[in-house]
Formats: sequence, structure tokens, C-alpha cells
Amino acid sequence: MTRTFAIKSFGCQMNVYDAERMGEALAADGLHEAGTESADVLILNTCHIREKAAEKLYSEVGRIAKRAREDGRKPVIAVTGCVAQAEGAEIMRRAGAVDLVVGPQAYHRLPELLKRQAAGEERLVDLDMPADSKFGALPGRQRRGPSAFLTIQEGCDKFCAFCVVPYTRGAEASRPMDALVEEARQLVAAGAREITLLGQNVNAWGQGNMRFGELLAEIAAIPGVERLRYTTSHPRDVTEAMILAHAEIPQLMPYLHLPVQSGSDRILAAMNRKHTRAFYLDIIARFRAARPDIAITSDFIVGFPGETEADFQDTLGIVEEVGYAQAFSFKYSPRLGTPAAERDDQVPEEVKSDRLQRLQALLQEKSLAFNAGTVGRACDILIERRGRQPGQWIGKSPWLQSVVVTDPTLTVGDIVSVEIVGAGPNSVEGRMLQMKTAA
Ligand code: 5AD
Ligand code: SF4
Repeated sequence: MTRTFAIKSFGCQMNVYDAERMGEALAADGLHEAGTESADVLILNTCHIREKAAEKLYSEVGRIAKRAREDGRKPVIAVTGCVAQAEGAEIMRRAGAVDLVVGPQAYHRLPELLKRQAAGEERLVDLDMPADSKFGALPGRQRRGPSAFLTIQEGCDKFCAFCVVPYTRGAEASRPMDALVEEARQLVAAGAREITLLGQNVNAWGQGNMRFGELLAEIAAIPGVERLRYTTSHPRDVTEAMILAHAEIPQLMPYLHLPVQSGSDRILAAMNRKHTRAFYLDIIARFRAARPDIAITSDFIVGFPGETEADFQDTLGIVEEVGYAQAFSFKYSPRLGTPAAERDDQVPEEVKSDRLQRLQALLQEKSLAFNAGTVGRACDILIERRGRQPGQWIGKSPWLQSVVVTDPTLTVGDIVSVEIVGAGPNSVEGRMLQMKTAA
């Protein structure tokens, strides 16, 4: 009988991308996709970025093991992703139900590892970071859906004092231009109209003397790439060409996710961010000069070791100054092996919670203000999924807002022009103007 598999992915968009590619590799090997409750092979694609993320893995494995005891059918459990890389041995010790542990740079070997497991080998661990990339060993793209991810770069050499990524994803590595152009073409052929270039540091991408700005132009020039996005970028790697691309490339969406983490120079230095508040604000001003309507988003950490109320006020201040369209914000979470975790001036939990609440209230206000600022504007949206009500659809605006539009004739993949007529903090309402290009 054919083996079935299911993948449950946690964490960032790169994990979503990896999960798609693992699924394609397993499908090419003859496995069929099934629901997470019934699959023979369950892959847990994990995230290690914050403590809670790793805890999710252990509770998930516990839940599956319990269910398996009840109905006497235990799936093969494979743990992939960043917790696998960081805690491979620990997972094997702590979670007896886990059969396979495979790191984020070794998942092209998943089909082979599953065969070895089926042949009787127990508790296999593959945490290699091979020099030749996994991408060459993976099958071509078959993704459906109008908006697709494309990983162009992985890993990080920046070593922010709080972050595990340099340890879990390894050193910065860029994929070759021709491989990326080929994959983008495959995605378009499979129905993608929008491509989001992914990387822990997308704008660190480089091949020979080609930099990220040139890659944007190459991908945008592929027929069928109607919208282009990228995430996540680092302030230190912003180039003039990348800024100008927002003025010159019509397919490039007016959206920039540029994490600042803190508004305090003292904390930025302690975080080893290698940029100041002024340096960051100058970059934002340059992007806005090139593309005045660009939506700016960020990540924030509150309660980094040594953060005082005055430092935190600087973070609130930068939120006011930039007027973020959206943002993710987190309480600092000490990660084993990172320099900040060793510091003896950790901020108490209640202080972190209080600051997070105040920051999120302000960010929510800014999101609402940004969305309200788009009311009355006409824009194109790409329809991505159905809404809750009959005839309702959710599409993405150029500024990545979720736009709710009601029109029973629409379908996923349509690009339609709407007028934004209402705004909340997390979505806006659109009124159908006209069909631009049907799916
Ligand atoms: N604690 C809290 N947040 C973190 N991030 C990364 N590491 C940590 C940590 N140790 C946040 C940063 C980053 C986002 C992906 O996760 O804001 O930009
Ligand atoms: Fe989590 Fe970072 Fe790994 Fe993404 S790369 S899954 S955010 S630890």
C-alpha cells in the first residue's frame, strides 16, 4: 500500500517554503499527501526562534504519542526544521516517539531516510550542512496557488546577540541566479502570479558581482511575474540599487519589511545589530523618497537584557516616527548558546509583558492609521482565498493589506481593481471596480 505523509509547519515563511519542497520530494518518491491525523508519516517542521516555539514541538509529539496509544496506530514521526538542527540529540532523548531528525539543510534526503527507517533502521539523525546545496537534489516546482515563495538565500552571518538563526540555518549562502530564474519560471507555469523572494537576509543575496537589486530586475522581467515581493531584509545590507528598484520596477510591490528590533541606540549596540537608529531612519527616508507610498513593517523585541524604561520609550518613539503599517513584536526569549542569554541583567517577565502590551497597543494604532490612510484609494488586489461570508473573497493589496471584497463572480488568482472603502487594524474593505486579469 502507498505510504501517506502530512507536514505540520511552524515558524517563518522559509519553513513554509521548505515544507512545500519536502512535500514535493516525497510526492516524487511515490508518497501521497494525507491529513495530519491519518498520515503514515508525520513531519513536524519546527521553529527554534523563541522558547515557546520549541515547546510546541514537545507538546505536539506528546499529543501524537497519546493518540497513538489510544488507537494503536503510531505514525512515523520525523522532526525537521530549526529545532531539529539545534537540539537533535535532545529531541531523541526527550521524545521517544520521534523516529527521524533531519536538519533544514538535509531535507532532500528525507525520502531516502524514510526508506531506511522502513527497512528497520531506528532513530536516524541527519544534521549535515552539506557544501553542495539541497536545492539541486530536489524535484521541480509543482505548486498551485497564485502567490508563491522562492528561497533565494539562507543563513545569516550577522550574529545578533539574541538570535539562533546563524546556528540553526548556518552561514549566509546565496542560490545561483540561473537556478532562481528557472524556479521562478516553474512557479509561474504552475500558476503563480506573485513571487515572494525569501531569505533570512534576502538583501545579502549576491553571486559574483551581481547583487540583490539586479536579481529583483531579473525576476521581475520573467513573463507572468505580475507581482514581486521579498522578505526579510537587514538594514546593513540595503543598497541604493534595491531602493531604486522600488521606483523603477512596476512589478515590485510598495512594501518593505525592515526589522529594527529596538529604537534605542544603547540596546541596538548591545544586540550587535551593527546599525543605529539614525542609520535606520535614513534608510527609511530613502525608500520613501523612491516610492512615497511604500508600506514599512518591522519586528521588535522588548525586554532585551539591560533594557530600561528609557530604552523602551525610544522604541515607542521610533514607532511614532516611522508609522509602521504592520509589525511583529516579541518578548525577549533567552536562547541557549546565544550571547544575550548569558547576561546577568535579564529583564523580569512582568516588565517584558507590560512593555509588550504597551508596544502592541501603539502598533495597533499605527496599523489602523495606515489602513485608514488608504481609504478612498484605488488599487489592484490579488485574490488569494474565500472570505467567511458567501460571495466574499480575500485579496492582497500592493501594501500587503488583506482586502475583503464581495463579488460572487471572483475566483482565486484573479487580479481585480478595487476602491478601499473601509479600514480596521488587520484588514480593509474593498469595493469592486473592475476585473484586471482573470486567473
Ligand atoms: N527572543 C525574542 N524574539 C526573537 N526574535 C529572534 N530571536 C528572538 C529572541 N531570542 C524575533 C526578532 C526577529 C524575528 C524573526 O523574531 O524580532 O526579527
Ligand atoms: Fe524559526 Fe528562524 Fe528557523 Fe524560521 S529560520 S523556522 S524563524 S528559527
